[in-house]
Amino acid sequence: MYVNLRALYLLVLLNDGMHHSASVLAKQLKCSLTSIYFLVYQLKNYSIDVVNIDGNIIRINKPIAWLNTELIIKYMSVESKKFDLRLFDIVDSTNNYLLNQLKRKTLTKGTVPVVAAEFQTSGRGREGRIWQCGFGNGLMFSMCWRFYKRGSDLSGLSLVTGIAILRVLRAYSVQNINIKWPNDILCNNHKLAGILIEIRGEICGPSYAVIGIGINFNLSESIKPLIDQKVTDLSEVTSGFIDRNRVFGELLLELHNVLKDFEYYGFAYFKKEWISYHSYEGCKVDLVFPNGLTITGIVDGIADDGAICLLTSGGKKSFNVGIISMRSRVY
Ligand code: BTN
Repeated sequence: MYVNLRALYLLVLLNDGMHHSASVLAKQLKCSLTSIYFLVYQLKNYSIDVVNIDGNIIRINKPIAWLNTELIIKYMSVESKKFDLRLFDIVDSTNNYLLNQLKRKTLTKGTVPVVAAEFQTSGRGREGRIWQCGFGNGLMFSMCWRFYKRGSDLSGLSLVTGIAILRVLRAYSVQNINIKWPNDILCNNHKLAGILIEIRGEICGPSYAVIGIGINFNLSESIKPLIDQKVTDLSEVTSGFIDRNRVFGELLLELHNVLKDFEYYGFAYFKKEWISYHSYEGCKVDLVFPNGLTITGIVDGIADDGAICLLTSGGKKSFNVGIISMRSRVY
């Protein structure tokens, strides 16, 4: 993939948040003034809010605290040896990256492969959506976990992944954070984080799950209008600065714990905790199926395989697919 290294170098120069003269930048980068404006344009393509004052003074709105392997490892201490961690400035999609490695059988063995990026050119969400997040505005990573189970036994996996995220973010006093079945992480009803899981492998196992996670930390003003749902980020819902490197390290450890327990005990082990995080428990909802049909019911917990249980006019039923939306709160 084409990555404009000069644009990234310009970003490093601008990352102090100070005003920079375009002509001085041109000297530093040994290029013309026109090239500087082209590079600024390139940075805007990465959804970095670059401000150009009077055609000559340039600065960026929100300096980036880059992901840093040493810091992430520091927050994981000796446990970091469990992971093979790779950080990129730009990739198409961290999920694609690991899926390609899986296909080519080039993944490391004995450790858990993890790939993170500051920016994705083709970030993917669920239901064929695009995942939009500006350069350094969030945490975007994927890990590949090998299960001895069959792919068909992993239906609760996306739900337990949500539990790992909730456990970590709640420790940062993120208020009103909860999960909307199956795995939308919401804060005040706005999307804060998402999970995209893609399973590959043999019918009888083992199976490989590429678990992709995106968490919004500090969305740039230019990216917000491009997102087709109500979004929020950690800077909006918490009072202080939250360190991405620290959250990343802690989340990797929590994922490791949760996935081990999931492999051993199954989803039933997490059911009670998951229900405690569910924003729609006890609410009257519509569940819209992929074919457009809708069923209405009151959310009444979750089944052992992660299916949502609804009290419908035809009795209690569980469903594995669909998108829920709230009608009213019942109790
Ligand atoms: C959703 O639609 O809620 C899921 C979003 C998942 C986004 C993450 S970002 C890292 C990983 N790479 C991708 O292309 N998608 C996931």
